Amino acid sequence: MTAWTSTRFTRLLNIDLPIVLGPFGGVSSISLTATVSEGGGLGSFGLYGYDPDRIMATARALDEATNRPYALNLWLPIPGEEAPQPDEAQFATYVEVLRPYFEAVGVEPPARPAHYMPDVDGQIQAALEAEPAAISFVFGVPPEDVIDAAHARGITIIGTATTVQEALALERGGVDAIVASGMEAGGHKVSFLEKPENSLIGTFSLVPQVADAVAVPVIAAGGVADGRGVAAALTLGADAVQIGSAFLATKQSAASNGYRGALRGPEAQQTVLTRAYSGRLGRGIPNRIARELTHPGLHAPFPVQNWLTGQFRTKAAQLDIPELMSLWAGQSAPLIAAALDNDDDAGHLLQRIVDSTTRILDGSI
Ligand SMILES: Cc1cc2nc3c(=O)[nH]c(=O)nc-3n(C[C@H](O)[C@H](O)[C@H](O)COP(=O)(O)O)c2cc1C
Repeated sequence: MTAWTSTRFTRLLNIDLPIVLGPFGGVSSISLTATVSEGGGLGSFGLYGYDPDRIMATARALDEATNRPYALNLWLPIPGEEAPQPDEAQFATYVEVLRPYFEAVGVEPPARPAHYMPDVDGQIQAALEAEPAAISFVFGVPPEDVIDAAHARGITIIGTATTVQEALALERGGVDAIVASGMEAGGHKVSFLEKPENSLIGTFSLVPQVADAVAVPVIAAGGVADGRGVAAALTLGADAVQIGSAFLATKQSAASNGYRGALRGPEAQQTVLTRAYSGRLGRGIPNRIARELTHPGLHAPFPVQNWLTGQFRTKAAQLDIPELMSLWAGQSAPLIAAALDNDDDAGHLLQRIVDSTTRILDGSI
């Protein structure tokens, strides 16, 4: 190992590489998380929508697959947006807008559920009891008692910021490391102090500002798909990078063939920010859902929209119809095909990224 691979973050987690696999709500896989951890990085697994039993089962499966450190990832409720409960009439309006998509995959529109998300306290308790090396959070500052309980079990807590103000709030809250997530990143814009539309800062600007503002290790996320990105992020002051979209395109990912193909194809050249898939702003490849549901009045609020579209997206994923799935992807997607080099194994991708970072940072090219 060369000098760049040892950072405050790798020493904190006792891992070999300052490379984190981004968690994927809905499309994380045991195999991909374990592959990145086994390769010396920190594999993460997204637990969005998982109830406590499923969280425990996932952690046990990860423990079977790897003895190396990994992170579990949870979403915190944003104050004021916790639990919208549309009445029957409102719910019927939201369903009506989505009816053509249900029909396209042959699924009956659902009845109004009692809950749209599992209770977050139960999720957090299960994640703590699972005792992963780290728990990463998005959409807020984890409560003090959660951080204390994690530390008592030796669990590292990672928060996620899209602005310097959010990074400072997370540091004041007691997190051990902070993901600085640039607006290039695939998936949801995880802002929690301001509207995401007012917090769209690029990785190149955000990372050095966050690194200057906080004392804890910083993980750069958004736009990194190869060794050039890793070298740049470390040069900007990051202690690690978090890579999502590029790993999502590998064979170990839970993304369907069509989704993985879209990540490597021409459609990924122009990602868009949309609320159509989930009711919250996120970056993805424009498909039929994103193109047709552009008017804000057409979306139910989060998490209602995410639950509703999830009812046909699951079937669309089984049938592999990318036009009717959430095609989350970052602006770096057009770099992925070259980064994979006709070899979609995640372990090989990780090694290729490490080798090219070494060549750049050790000055041998
Ligand atoms: C399909 C998808 C789902 C994601 N889900 C989550 C999530 O549940 N929690 C989270 O912290 N980040 C999530 N992210 C963000 C990634 O973990 C990572 O930070 C991001 O992809 C990095 O930017 P990149 O796409 O440019 O590599 C998701 C990203 C994608 C592409």
